[in-house]
Amino acid sequence: MNNNNFEKINFLKIKKENGQKFLDLFINTYKNENIIEKKVRIIKEDDYVLIPLIERRDLNEFLTKIIHNQFEYQIISKESNIHLKIKYRALQDVLKDKIFNKYKELIPKSFDIIGEIAIIEFNTFKFQDDENLHLIKKEIAEAITLVNNKIISVYEKISEIKGIFRLRKLNLLYGKDISETIYRENSCLFKLDIKRTFFTPRLVYERNRIVSSNIKENEIIIDMFAGVGPFSIQIAKKHKVMIHAFDINPYAYNYLCENISLNKLIGTITPHNLDINNLLNSNNEIGKSLKNKADRVIMNFPENSIKYLNVACYLMKKSGGILHNYQISTKPNSIKNAINKLDDNLRKNNWFIGQIITSKVVKPFSPKSDLVVIDLIIRK
Ligand SMILES: C[S@@+](CC[C@H](N)C(=O)[O-])C[C@H]1O[C@@H](n2cnc3c(N)ncnc32)[C@H](O)[C@@H]1O
Repeated sequence: MNNNNFEKINFLKIKKENGQKFLDLFINTYKNENIIEKKVRIIKEDDYVLIPLIERRDLNEFLTKIIHNQFEYQIISKESNIHLKIKYRALQDVLKDKIFNKYKELIPKSFDIIGEIAIIEFNTFKFQDDENLHLIKKEIAEAITLVNNKIISVYEKISEIKGIFRLRKLNLLYGKDISETIYRENSCLFKLDIKRTFFTPRLVYERNRIVSSNIKENEIIIDMFAGVGPFSIQIAKKHKVMIHAFDINPYAYNYLCENISLNKLIGTITPHNLDINNLLNSNNEIGKSLKNKADRVIMNFPENSIKYLNVACYLMKKSGGILHNYQISTKPNSIKNAINKLDDNLRKNNWFIGQIITSKVVKPFSPKSDLVVIDLIIRK
């Protein structure tokens, strides 16, 4: 897993020469208080230093108390790289005297943070029969809330992602059993429920990449497996396009609708709670209206996307268009294998690969497979 993540963070902006003064003032007077965000590095910018701050309601009052007119400062907000490894060190610190050394290897080196929720995965193989295991997990979960005070609930993954809705079972380890949260990514907000809708923060770079690709004004885009809308919403935030976003899961659809309203979009998104296969029925009105209309189709259902290529072909403009196809593809040669699958299956539908725009491994998926993305132009 990637060890970095991006979040909006508040920084104290002060002249370089006041940097040490601030740290001394803070440490001398308020050493038991928390104000510095340890997961983010201090930034040097010309004559200034930017000191990352944790989120706290009384931030302004607290800073006024510490600095007490001794020098000028500003609070600025900046998209920042969160170093999860630093969080790991902080986690180890908090747990130093709370768990025996033999359990330290259970402390996760990284975990997903979605809004106010942390989701962790333990490698418990060695501790299967250990009667303390559950208590240790709870200690670790509590420690996560201490090193990141934004987090109010910590869940543990207890199954693989399964089923048509692509959900996994989660067990609450610490905090409130509230699985609905609001996640922020690339200046967009996503309301979602981690138990009822698929969502992964790990595709942040992928969504950024697609949003920054050569999308033209007024394109018609089909997001075949939209979930709560991370691809559609980020595209419509930046581009004046018309998107049709489909998901079979009614919860994902409802959040998608809410997320469309939550974000100021310049493009339009029409949400549909529908099995994408239904579009092929000759009496399906949405299918009829979208047949051969798409300039671009996004297929973010890596385990099954090949199965739905016929639908993508049905929707694509006859003159051809762009496909963003995600696949779980076997190693070795996962990229080549994914392209071959596309080639074979497009031919079966009387389409073919016009040009491969991008082909890359997004991340390793299992010892034997990769998550691969192929962006390509398909032609009839
Ligand atoms: C891997 S998730 C991707 C969701 C979203 N693109 C994202 O990045 O969060 C796949 C989504 O496809 C939906 N899905 C599965 N089969 C479908 C079908 N036949 N028609 C429409 N949606 C489907 C699932 O409910 C799930 O939300």
